Amino acid sequence: ETRRCAMYDYNTINVDMNEDIAIVRFSRPKALNALNHEMTLELAELFDKLENDPVVRGIILTGEGRAFMAGADISEMKERDAEGGREFARVSNYAFSRVADISKPTIAAVNGFALGGGLELSLCCDWRIAAESASFAAPEVTLGIIPSGGGTQRLPRLIGSGRAKELIFTGKRIKAAEAERIGLVNKVVPDEALMDEAVKSMREALANSAVALRYAKEAIDTGIGLSLADGIKVEINSVGMVFGSEDRLEGVSAFLEKRKAVFRDK
Ligand code: COA
Repeated sequence: ETRRCAMYDYNTINVDMNEDIAIVRFSRPKALNALNHEMTLELAELFDKLENDPVVRGIILTGEGRAFMAGADISEMKERDAEGGREFARVSNYAFSRVADISKPTIAAVNGFALGGGLELSLCCDWRIAAESASFAAPEVTLGIIPSGGGTQRLPRLIGSGRAKELIFTGKRIKAAEAERIGLVNKVVPDEALMDEAVKSMREALANSAVALRYAKEAIDTGIGLSLADGIKVEINSVGMVFGSEDRLEGVSAFLEKRKAVFRDK
């Protein structure tokens, strides 16, 4: 059962709780959830709080209405000069990095348009599940700008530079099925099944040790920016950390005793 969480009270974002999963819903319906300055600041503050909320173990991001997020709010772009543009990208990246760096698992449940900043935000999640009617694009060049929420960096890391350049240079919109084919999304499901599927996928992860999930995420995300040799060193140290956890003792003992593990996040 999902219910609105009054503790997180924002103008542009609603948060529902499904037990220990926070469902973050972008909500500027009149602008297809375009990311304006207010939403950017609210997003950064929300993810700082979610990181430290002991009730929340996993996070699903989605949009209200017919868009996940139709990009940055274009109406705020007109007055910016070079310094203003740099500041815009700095603030966007600050907020998006709060999402990417949260230590808990995140899934983007992409329900409609995921354009520009919407696509970039989905890239900040651990994985992406799309509704059949979802669509994706990096249309910035059509406006004479370039991705400013990490898209030039995260998109090629996920799908390779050739596919990323094709999307970023053409600005073309692709459907969910094509996004799945190129590895941008993990799975496409019928529109009405999207949230159930995202919750199910998250629950599959959350059944496991939260300590192990945290270290696995950290090792993957740190290692991806390093050489293989340095990444392996990160992994070795992370393994050392998880072996020190109570969850590891419980997980290994439970297997040997042929019973189900009861993890306590320690
Ligand atoms: N910034 C500001 N407002 C936006 C917006 C954005 N990125 N995307 C949509 N909106 C607004 C529209 O201006 C419109 O407002 P209005 O009703 O006051 O005119 C409203 O949301 C609905 O959009 P509309 O264009 O009428 O819907 P549509 O179904 O015809 O088209 C899109 C949907 C998403 C294809 C189209 O809105 C679009 O191309 N948006 C811009 C996407 C983009 O380039 N984003 C990247 C920015 S870097």
